[in-house]
Amino acid sequence: MKALVLSGGSGTRLRPFSYSMPKQLIPIANRPVLEHVLANISALGVTEVAVVVGGWGAEIEREIGDGSRLGVRITYIPQDEPLGLAHCVLLARPFLGEDDFVMYLGDNMLPDGVGDVARQFAAERPDAQLVVRKVADPRNFGVAELDPAGRVTRLVEKPQQPRSDLALIGVYFFTAAIHRSVAAIRPSARGELEITDAVQHLLAHGGDVRAEEYAGYWKDTGRTEDVLECNRRMLEALVPAVAGEVDADSTIEGRVVVEPGARIVRSHIEGPAIVGTDTLVEDSHIGSGTAIGRGCLLRSTRLAESIVMDGASITDVPGLHNSLIGRGASVGASAQHRLVVGDHTRIEVAA
Ligand code: TTP
Repeated sequence: MKALVLSGGSGTRLRPFSYSMPKQLIPIANRPVLEHVLANISALGVTEVAVVVGGWGAEIEREIGDGSRLGVRITYIPQDEPLGLAHCVLLARPFLGEDDFVMYLGDNMLPDGVGDVARQFAAERPDAQLVVRKVADPRNFGVAELDPAGRVTRLVEKPQQPRSDLALIGVYFFTAAIHRSVAAIRPSARGELEITDAVQHLLAHGGDVRAEEYAGYWKDTGRTEDVLECNRRMLEALVPAVAGEVDADSTIEGRVVVEPGARIVRSHIEGPAIVGTDTLVEDSHIGSGTAIGRGCLLRSTRLAESIVMDGASITDVPGLHNSLIGRGASVGASAQHRLVVGDHTRIEVAA
């Protein structure tokens, strides 16, 4: 089996971050989302992976490289415009050949893995095996309708009146039968080749399409709230390790990682939390659910439930929470609010 990872797209829901970086490189517990994805694929025993990339391809390639670090061999496939998930399958056809493959959205996190579904697919080899999950509001998802035997009878993209609460989540298993359907469909009203339309075409032509309800943790990291929630969840699984320096006036409580070269001075860190290499935390309180990247400076600051990306600095800010601070950003105190705010940035100031 091969893998097809989709890491193009426009990431509009993650602005302003998606102006300066691809959302698949957003760090979750100090590791890019895409690395978590590739580690999951590697855990399936799959080694041949194609990663579809858009305008951020060079940056993704620089960060992830040839995949050898993660036990996979990556072929990068450029997609000039985000023309849809099925368009990615079309572009990857020469790479995929006649092989079975798992298609995995590069911004989806399933830390419990998809090994069970992969084994079931390999044993029974239906034309397509979808991974679904009950959601409260299916109107924002591709929705699967099933018969009592678990066979898919119909798929609808973002239905106004859903007839099922089973949403497609970011992992699909396919045999080569999908290629004929992908080649047959036309762009949808939003101008994309929809994978739901391709699977619906497969169904209409007698294809065997099944769905497996996923019980593990799943998060689409397409919005900041989801990134932060997922970050907390991944921090909870950290193996505590203090490799950096913690001075005698500091305290560390719970599941905490202090990476090599980090320094903790007169501070308190409450896990789960991670402090990245070469970061200085001084006279500060780092609350739980926080991941601080490499080369950051936190001075006289109190924050929790947040992600601080590489090279950012925060000084004299006593009450930050649920915040996502970008690379090299600087947050400080002043007598009045003074803001330099980029396009589509969201700021909430304590009243
Ligand atoms: P989405 O999150 O559905 O789309 P998007 O990246 O355009 O984001 P937004 O809705 O916020 O504008 O895409 C799911 C994944 O698939 C994501 O990793 C991007 C990737 N993708 C492609 O690689 N090519 C595409 O043509 C599309 C639509 C998505």
